[in-house]
Formats: sequence, structure tokens, C-alpha cells
Amino acid sequence: MSDLRAASGDTAWFVHDRFGLFIHWGLYSLPARHEWVRHAEQIPTEEYDGKYFPRFDPDLYDPEVWAKAAAGAGMKYVVVTTKHHEGFCLWDSKLTDYKATNTPAKRDLIRPLVDAFRRHGMRTGLYYSLIDWHHPDCVIDPHIGPYRASPKREELNRGRDQKRYAAYMRGQVEELLTGYGDIDVLWFDFSYPKPDGSGKGKDDWESEQLLETVRRLRPGIILNDRLDLPHGWDIKTPEQYQPRERVTFEGKPVVWEACQTFSGSWGYHRDESSWKSVDQLVRMLIDTVSKDGNLLLNVGPTGRGEFDQRALARLQGLGEWLRRHGRSIYGCGPAPDGLVAPGDCRYTYDAKNRRLYLHLFAWPYKHVHLDGLAGKVAYAQLLNDASEVKLEGSDWTTQNAKEASNGKDTLMLELPTEQPPVTVPVIELFLK
Ligand code: GLC
Repeated sequence: MSDLRAASGDTAWFVHDRFGLFIHWGLYSLPARHEWVRHAEQIPTEEYDGKYFPRFDPDLYDPEVWAKAAAGAGMKYVVVTTKHHEGFCLWDSKLTDYKATNTPAKRDLIRPLVDAFRRHGMRTGLYYSLIDWHHPDCVIDPHIGPYRASPKREELNRGRDQKRYAAYMRGQVEELLTGYGDIDVLWFDFSYPKPDGSGKGKDDWESEQLLETVRRLRPGIILNDRLDLPHGWDIKTPEQYQPRERVTFEGKPVVWEACQTFSGSWGYHRDESSWKSVDQLVRMLIDTVSKDGNLLLNVGPTGRGEFDQRALARLQGLGEWLRRHGRSIYGCGPAPDGLVAPGDCRYTYDAKNRRLYLHLFAWPYKHVHLDGLAGKVAYAQLLNDASEVKLEGSDWTTQNAKEASNGKDTLMLELPTEQPPVTVPVIELFLK
């Protein structure tokens, strides 16, 4: 058992690739008002299944198109929901009838997806919900799900056997990890143990056994941290917020991945109007890498099987920026210890090539002062067009600015007055 306690996943590719696509797709894309709609509106099983199951017909689904959009956005891996909290399975599981093959979709939707993304050179990951609002053995608790507040909760729980549900999960995970080639990431979601035992955690999921199953089948898979185990996971997964600094566990930096939505909901949401701009998303990606993290950015496809226009426009904007600035993201991490970026800026660092990248979130007038870098930079250029940026420029404004600066080993760069025509300009500094 002792080897299971170590984080054993292969994260070398992961920390290099930095940017992935999350996909949340299921029956909830039809109500199109949040993947938690069953919980929020307390929709009983007969109603939910009666309305949506027979109408799940993604006739425009073409994972090739999705993979192209993701590759165009500069994404390097994908994590797709095989089953979300509603319990509906997108693959042809032998262990349930509640699956895509029995809807008008009539096919396993996961297989063509992993094939398409692999064709585009991307790594593949599977999300699997621990929570299940459909399985007849998953015990209903007072916190989560369509019957959480129902007066019939106790009655509905009669005969349920959580252990049988835990075995079902292990069986499904086995199907997923043996039937779809070399899966690179497994993403469990989620645990909510309560001190009085009323929530759900490692004992309810039988997490140790689940972990054993995963490691037996794919020792090098990257496993996230939501099984409610203090060990055995490879990545931390802060959700819908940007950590203030590098993420640590027990005082040590860990591999981590921020997961973020475009608009708040993970599943397709027709009416949400809180969409982040391309500009915000680009800054989010930079900020994440500057703190040594990955960004897993979500799309909720429609019930017809498409990424909607709002999502496509943002993916395209991200790709446009990354095409010219990928050098400051892939293979990069935080600045060497002790270097602090000026206000409104983020550093990332490519240790292999000794290049430091200065991202300017707000374009300053003419000069930027970089503490600790005097004499350490051999050459500097704007990354978007490889135009030289002068070190310690010599015109009179620069001389005056230099005298006015009271830096410590400060290097001053001379910038053009006009911001380069890109979302976030980057200066590439070649360290000596
Ligand atoms: C959650 C939510 C969910 C989403 C996930 C992604 O915990 O329950 O709907 O799938 O986070 O991180």
C-alpha cells in the first residue's frame, strides 16, 4: 500500500503543456440553465428523465471540430465529463442503462472524442463524478441532489446500499481506463465530508480502493485531489478563483491546475451574461503560469453537440494571442527566486532557455523598471513582432527617468509610446 501514498502520476508533460480544455456535457445541456439544475430546482427523476433522456440528440456532434477549436486555441489536453452528478454516462457502460447509447444519440460519445483529440496531438483526460443523483444505491444526503430537502428522503433511502454504489464506481472506472487507450488524466469530483458524517467522503466512495484500482490499471495517470484522501493524488485543483500565489500543500509547492469557466456555469447555459472577455482569459492564463499552475478552461457544448459562438470567439482570441506568445507559456514557470515583477506585470520563466518573459497587463508610458536585473540581460525584444527593446535607452527622457528611479540593481527598458496591437504585450528577456 505504501506506494499508493506517493503522488506517482507523470506530471512532466503536464507542467510543460500548461493549458487544457475542460468539457462538461450531459443531459443538462438541454435545460441549458446549469449542470446543477436538478439540485437547484429539485427535479424528480421521472420528470428529468422523462423530458431530457429521450431528447438527447446531438445531431451536430463532430469531435473533430471540437479538437480543431481546442488546438487552435493553443490547448494541449482535454478533460471530458464521462458522467456528471446527474449520473448520465456518455460512454457505453455495461453497468448501467443510463447512457448515451440508449438515447437518440445512440452511440458512445467518448470514443470518437478521445480519438479526435489524439489525432490533434492532445493528451486525454476523463472526469468522473463521485456524486450520482441517479444511481439507486447512492445514498441521498441532506446537502446535495434533487431529493436533499424532500420529506420522502428517508423513504427513498430505504434499501440503498452505498457499498454497492462504490463497487459500481470501481467497475466504471475500470471500463474507462481499459477501454479508451492511454488516458493521461483522471479527474474525480467531489467530496464534501461533514464533521457529523452527513456529507460524503472517502468512506462513502471507498476512496482507498478506488485509488488502488486506478493505480493498478494506470500507475502513471495524473490523478486529482478530490477523493478526500491526504495522499495519492498528483494535482491540486482550485476552482473558479485564481490563487494569490503558488499553491502549496503542507508547506511545499505542488503541481496544480486552476479550473475556470467562461461564464460561471460548467454545462451549457443559454442565458448567462457573465462571460469573461478574451482579455481577462489571456491574463488568467498568464497569471496561472506565473504561479506555476495549469489552466483548464471549460466549454459546455450545446444539446445539438456544438460549441456556441461565445465560446468559439473566446477560443479563437486565446489562440490568436498564443500563436505569437506561446513561448512565454509552454515550458514556462515562475520567475527565478527573488525576482519580483513590477506593478501590473507578471513574469514567467523558461529555465531551459534562460528567457524571462515580462507580461504587461497595463501598458506604461515609455519606461519599465526591473529590479534585480541590472547587468543580467543580454537582449530584449517584444515577443509579438521580435522588435528590439532598448536596455537603458539613451534619449534624454530615458536618462531623466533613470536618474529619477531609485532601484536596486534596476534595469530600465525603453518602450514605444503606443501599446503593440496585442491583448497582452510580452517582452522577452534573454538572460546572460
Ligand atoms: C464542481 C461542480 C461542478 C463542476 C466541477 C468542476 O465541484 O460540482 O459542476 O463539474 O466543480 O471543477
